[in-house]
Amino acid sequence: MIFQKKISLLAMAIALVSIAPSFAAEAPPADSKKATSEAPKAWMNKKLTPEQRTDLVLKEMTMDEKLKLVFGYFGTDAPWKNFKRPVESITQSAGFVYGIPRLGIPNLWLADAGIGVASQGGPNVREATALPSGINTAATWDLKTAYAGGAMIGSEARAFGFNVLLAGGVNLLREPRNGRTFEYAGEDPLLAGKIVGAQIGGIQSNKIVSTLKHYAFNDQETNRGTLNVKIDDAPARMADLLALQVAYEDGNPGSVMCAYNRVNGFYACESNYLLNEVLKKDWGFKGWVMSDWGATHSTIPAANSGLDQQSGIPFDQSEYFGAALKEAVQNGWVSQARFDDMVRRVLQPMFEFGVMDNPVSANPETINFKANGLVSQKDAEEGMVLLKNDNKLLPLSKAAKKIAVIGSRADIGVLSGGGSSQVYPVGGAAFKGGPQFFPGPMLYYPSSPLKAIQARVPQAKVTYNDGVDAVAAAKLAADSDMVLVFVNQWTAESVDVPNLSLPDNQDALVAAVAKANAKTVVVMQTGGPVFMPWLADVGAAVEAWYPGTNGGEAIARVLFGEVNPSGHLPATFPASEAQLPRPVLDGYPEVKDARITVNYTEGATVGYKWFDLKGHKPLFPFGHGLSYSEFAFSGLKADVKNGLINASFTVKNTGSVAGKEVAQVYVAPVSAVWEAPKRLGGWQKVDLKAGASTKASVTIDPRLVGMYDSATKTWKIAEGDYKVILAADATDAKATSVTVHLNAATLDVKGKFVK
Ligand code: NOJ
Repeated sequence: MIFQKKISLLAMAIALVSIAPSFAAEAPPADSKKATSEAPKAWMNKKLTPEQRTDLVLKEMTMDEKLKLVFGYFGTDAPWKNFKRPVESITQSAGFVYGIPRLGIPNLWLADAGIGVASQGGPNVREATALPSGINTAATWDLKTAYAGGAMIGSEARAFGFNVLLAGGVNLLREPRNGRTFEYAGEDPLLAGKIVGAQIGGIQSNKIVSTLKHYAFNDQETNRGTLNVKIDDAPARMADLLALQVAYEDGNPGSVMCAYNRVNGFYACESNYLLNEVLKKDWGFKGWVMSDWGATHSTIPAANSGLDQQSGIPFDQSEYFGAALKEAVQNGWVSQARFDDMVRRVLQPMFEFGVMDNPVSANPETINFKANGLVSQKDAEEGMVLLKNDNKLLPLSKAAKKIAVIGSRADIGVLSGGGSSQVYPVGGAAFKGGPQFFPGPMLYYPSSPLKAIQARVPQAKVTYNDGVDAVAAAKLAADSDMVLVFVNQWTAESVDVPNLSLPDNQDALVAAVAKANAKTVVVMQTGGPVFMPWLADVGAAVEAWYPGTNGGEAIARVLFGEVNPSGHLPATFPASEAQLPRPVLDGYPEVKDARITVNYTEGATVGYKWFDLKGHKPLFPFGHGLSYSEFAFSGLKADVKNGLINASFTVKNTGSVAGKEVAQVYVAPVSAVWEAPKRLGGWQKVDLKAGASTKASVTIDPRLVGMYDSATKTWKIAEGDYKVILAADATDAKATSVTVHLNAATLDVKGKFVK
């Protein structure tokens, strides 16, 4: 992980011959089966509440047993740290926590991550189904798809023997150069929170626990372990924390993973503000906070500030929640009550979400990879965004006789994002490149767009060119009826991208190809927003993100119109870096261990809110997405009932094919002062046959019309008029609006009206 990329082979060789790790002595008796087959324990009575069951078992536990539950190991050998994974852990996994067999408390087996059951690199990778990237799922704007994807990857996690999935990444997209943009859900707190909440719900429907992460403000990878984010409480609660809060409310995760970075001077994993105040007190979180791997920095401050479990030994400098915690409890620096609370927080979700009552046992042979691939494919198809389509160049005509397919190894597969979330594809990678160690390798999944395209036009001559030589590619383009040029950008955990330009001269490739043939379609596989200097010269462009296990098939289905694209951007695509709040990425290129400060002076004015406020014209606005059909909105009405704004309207498919539209409802204050001119208040995705219309409605979460007030810990809605705007994206020239009047109101910290 963070260390891995820095080690040399020599260091590894030295480490391999050195001492055995000290933790081995901590292992409990291996004979857990015998211990668990005794008479039923009182806390196994399912009629009791999770709280009651937790209380009962907690009373039985010795101090050393309690300590086991707050201390986690890496599930992979780390020779550079002389570390061998506990034998009971699952090979090349993210984590492991010893249970207490005597009491029937199972071990915790932890796997990464949000797009499927990941595997750490090495000789015995697990092959699993990969969803498309998180940002693709956000681009679906469809909670059912998000839930189904979560349910699918959760079922694979269970089948591989894991009972905790380290999913639920919802760091708000403030920094499009963030190497992990692909894992998250874009720039809007409501959309991101809802999508990730639905995914968490799906995962936990398998009676396993999901995390919500990375709490909070881990928005860039450069210096992620040391950087300090400066942000005030109110903007934090209205932006990044709101995304996490919504995901928490909707998903009800059993665990929250605190982040690497510091926030207002404190490490996120020892931030009393983040952990005790916001998460546990204000939001009412009852589960456990686990640290990110290498994100625990102390014993007493961390425990007292709200960290419940140290994860991923050996990534931290010390075993802070091992013997040191025991001593701190014994001498009173960490109270017995707080120590018990830490343990209780681990146990209670294990009861609540079914981990105790439905023990996992590995049976990967039961996984239906074909069916699961289709779940992933549906997500990809639903999230692919048609950015541009001049003269209806798409869907592709089956009459084309000569089709050129260029670039991005489209002959063999589709790209995936790198780092701990890396899922290894079933059947092996189509191509393995990039860095040898973390966050590599760079993997292509074996779902070939070229083959999927050729299969649909058997009569046509489909020729592939690798795009390395732009002149040769342009020659092929000139000699073709139609050109599909694939471009990509590999992004990965622990490294940010230097800028938003496509790497490896791909812009020059597209420009040359488009010059040779105007019927050029660009298919993009990127981690997030990128620049498209050639946009005016190409006929069509599709953002396919990292499209997952069946990505090639999904791309072909969209290109040929078997699926009508309905994805909408969950993030603004800027026209230049000068438009960003931070034109230069702080700390880039990384100087190891530099303790930089990133000042979020833009506050809650994130993404389209910033572009609105500054009057910047983006390359593509938030919410943008075309279809092979057209839609019209009409009859917008809005009323206020019990303080809640409800908008209703009609959506009509005015085109000639069935399709889906995302009707977006924004709110804008007429007199109140917000951080930005407008906010997304809600949306509805509708599925309509050609010529059909439907009524739709959206009720707006009242927090989205308020301003958070730190002094009183409430959301204040100012009395006045508010515009309710119906639009197809954040800059829609055809948007319509109506005005409603709101009385002054106050919401508590959870967003409920105060009587
Ligand atoms: C570090 C990553 O930030 C986190 O997302 C992941 O779950 C852990 N490592 C475990 O691999």
